[in-house]
Parts: sequence; structure tokens; C-alpha cells
Amino acid sequence: MSIHLETELQKHKTSITDLPNLLIGADTVVPTLHGPKRYVNFDNAASTPTFQPITDAVISFLRWYSNVHRGTGFKSQLSSWAFERSRDIVAEFVGADLDKQVVIFTMNATEAINKLSRRFPLERGDIILTTLMEHHSNELPWRRAGKVEHVGLDDDGTISKYDFLSKLAAFGSRIKLVAISGASNVTGYINDLDFLAEKAHDVGAKILVDAAQLAPHRPIDMKPHDAKRWIDYLVFSAHKMYAPFGVGVLVGDRETFEQGDPETVGGGVVDMVTLEEAYWTDLPEKEEAGTPDIVGVVALSKAIRLFQSLGWEAMIQHEAKLTAYALQQLKQIPEVTLYGDIDPANAAQRLGVISFNFGDLPHALVAAILSYEGAIGVRAGCFCAQPYVKSILHMSDEELKALEKQILSRDRSHVPGAVRVSFGLYNTKDEIDRLIEMLHKIASGDYNKGYVLNKEKGEYAPRDFVVEFGEYFGL
Ligand SMILES: Cc1ncc(COP(=O)(O)O)c(C=O)c1O
Repeated sequence: MSIHLETELQKHKTSITDLPNLLIGADTVVPTLHGPKRYVNFDNAASTPTFQPITDAVISFLRWYSNVHRGTGFKSQLSSWAFERSRDIVAEFVGADLDKQVVIFTMNATEAINKLSRRFPLERGDIILTTLMEHHSNELPWRRAGKVEHVGLDDDGTISKYDFLSKLAAFGSRIKLVAISGASNVTGYINDLDFLAEKAHDVGAKILVDAAQLAPHRPIDMKPHDAKRWIDYLVFSAHKMYAPFGVGVLVGDRETFEQGDPETVGGGVVDMVTLEEAYWTDLPEKEEAGTPDIVGVVALSKAIRLFQSLGWEAMIQHEAKLTAYALQQLKQIPEVTLYGDIDPANAAQRLGVISFNFGDLPHALVAAILSYEGAIGVRAGCFCAQPYVKSILHMSDEELKALEKQILSRDRSHVPGAVRVSFGLYNTKDEIDRLIEMLHKIASGDYNKGYVLNKEKGEYAPRDFVVEFGEYFGL
């Protein structure tokens, strides 16, 4: 039987230096205004590509693929085994206690938070305490669930511990949940989860950690419930962890999901259905209506095995080196304004997510030049964290009001934001050099002057540069 969940990686230890060669699409050449160039991906905070051992495992598993649970055929039994074994691998990866907690597979982190927001028991007057640093996915679901209060930021863009403690003191036991990101997708700041968890528990609140950014870059330990600093709920996404096959994870207290009706109803969530009644089955199936993404879950396990084979120390060091180097280089370009902690010496205490602006050039134009002329993939805008980005840009209320008016009239030409580069395990110093070289070119005005702004989208593209995507990938 050849499902490589455990054995292969344990036999062959993978090292960070192997990764550029194991990357799927490593040598992909893309069209630019100056002819074809090898693509550089600095958009890993949005989604990562995948690696050969992971796709090998997927292909190998597909030979055995069949729907899970209650199928009697050998392939169904094997698929069920792989699916449930993966659940254990995920639980172990984040230090979940399966006696008290349950691992629920979703589609992504957003779906996981939405699920929790519909299942978390809240009464009128209860408060969900979140922060100004959050991704919209850890903000908007809570607004629908109840009353949301926000912890403010310090001047450097970190979460204000003082404001956090003040809010805890002001609202006390009315706070039922502290919903907070493990790390920022804008500045790469890593939050002090031990401190936040302990203080949240002191007022009787539970804590949800949005680990969409943290999980691919730092070990997470949810800790046993007698540890004072345990994490009650955790979410993350496989597509940011080199397994882009459509899986998210929600880990949480069993009792939250044992009570009440499942969030989504349909096949798989019931023990018995009559025309009058439905009797819900046990967790985790109760919260995984319909056919789950079995292949995606297997791919996630394989990604976790890859992390284990590489080792956190090596992963953290590699990304810190890239981050320190990029910061050093970026700081030497006078047009570049960096946000967050820009000290290269602190690179190991943050993620390799760097946001910046460039002189008076719109962030969307800089991103377009990097793409259309340098074949460098970055992201520009607010990164689904508008309140946070507006805060770190120090926008005034008047500016925000004027902007709101423009955007609502479908003009996104002045949307605030930044350019974001974010590193993955396979990125190299040479690739950063390519970015820096391009930025120097932009600084000296050595770039195409024929970019056209699409006002409605707020995006720039070179005039008369038409690409037939079907020539690169057929459907
Ligand atoms: C901090 C954070 N939370 C949540 C999300 C949403 O993740 P997903 O797109 O997997 O739902 C993201 C995605 O960028 C993120 O960075």
C-alpha cells in the first residue's frame, strides 16, 4: 500500500536547500513587456505553491481515493483511514487535546471562523473582543454574531497591551470571546498569545486564534486546559501551508459543537432522520456536512510531515534571513517607506511579510510594474485588513470620509494601501535581489510609461499588452 503520509519523509529528510528544486512550477516562465522571464512569487501570505512530495502523495492517494465513512469497499475504508489519520496529524501539529477538543475540516480559515461565529454561544449583551489588526475574516463574522469591541494599536502598529487590559477591566465577564490573529498579514507582527490567552481566561473569556498567517511559520501549542494559557479555538488554512487543495481547519472545544444544531445540515450529519425529526450524529461528522475534501486533507497532512522533516528551527532561520536581507536592501532605497518593525535584527521575531509604499507612486502601479516588467508576483492594497492598513498609514478621519465617498461611487483610483512582499520556504536571496533591482529601476524612472488605470478596479495594466491565458493553460 503506498500512501506516503508518514514513511517516506521520515526516511528521506528534506532540507530547506532542497525546496527550490522541489517547488512545483519553480522554473515557470511568464510573459512580460520585456519578453519571457522566470516568475518570482512573493505572494506567499496570500497562498503558497506546493512541493513535489505533496503532489506525489496526492497522486499516490488518488489511486485509492473513494468517498469516506460507511463505504464498505476497500478504497473507501482506506480513504476513511487516511482522512481520520490526517485529523490526528493535524491535532498533534497544533497540540490539541482530542479528549476535550475536536478538529473540524472546513474549506478555508474564513469558513472556519464563520462556523465558529454561528456555533459560539452568545447572549444579548455579550461582547466579542477583537483588535484593529484583524483580517476581515476575523472581524466581519463577529459583527453578525454580536457586539464587537476593538483593542487599539500602539504607535508602532502592534496591539496595545494597555488597551487590551483596559478593555478587559471595563467589560469584564461580559467578554465571552477574544478573537485575535496569531500574526499579522500586513506587518508580520507575531502576537503574544500566552499573555493574551492568560488575561482573557482571567475574565472568563475564551480565546480564538486566527492562525492563518502563524501556522505556516511558527509552531503552535494549544496547550492543555489546566495550563492557564491554553488556546480554546484555532483556525488556519492549508493553502497557505503548501497544500493548496481547498482545506481549512477549525479546532475547538467539543462542548461548543456538541450542543445545539450543526451549522450546516444535510448528508453526513445525522444518525437518523424521520419526516419530523433529525438526530444529529457525533463530532466531528456533525460539523462536516456533505462530502469533505479528502484529497485536500491528505495533502495538508503531507505538508505537516514536510514541516516536521524540515524542522521549525531551520524554517524560522531561513525566513528570518530572507526578511533581514530584504529589509536591509529596502531601507537603502530612499523612495521606500516601510511599515511595522523595520529593524533587520528583529527578523526572527516576526514573519517574512513586508509592506511598503514607494514615493508618490500608487501601490497598485508599483505592483503592476513588478509584475508586467519584472515577473515578480506581489500583492497591493489593504490585504483584507482595511481598518489595520488605514491605521498604520495614519489616515485622518477627513481622508477616510473622502475616500469612502469615492469608493462608493466606484472610483478606486485612490484606494489606500501598500505593496506587500511575503516570503515562503523556497524563496532565495537571489530572488530578493531581483525585486531590489526592479525597485531601483522604478526609482530611476526606468519603466514603461504606458500603464492605464482601471478606475473601478483600482488596477494598472500596460496599454496594448494582451495575454491569452489559454495559451499557457488549457481547460
Ligand atoms: C490573518 C488572516 N486571517 C484569515 C485569512 C483568511 O484565510 P482564507 O483565505 O484561507 O479564508 C487570511 C488570508 O489571507 C489571513 O491572512
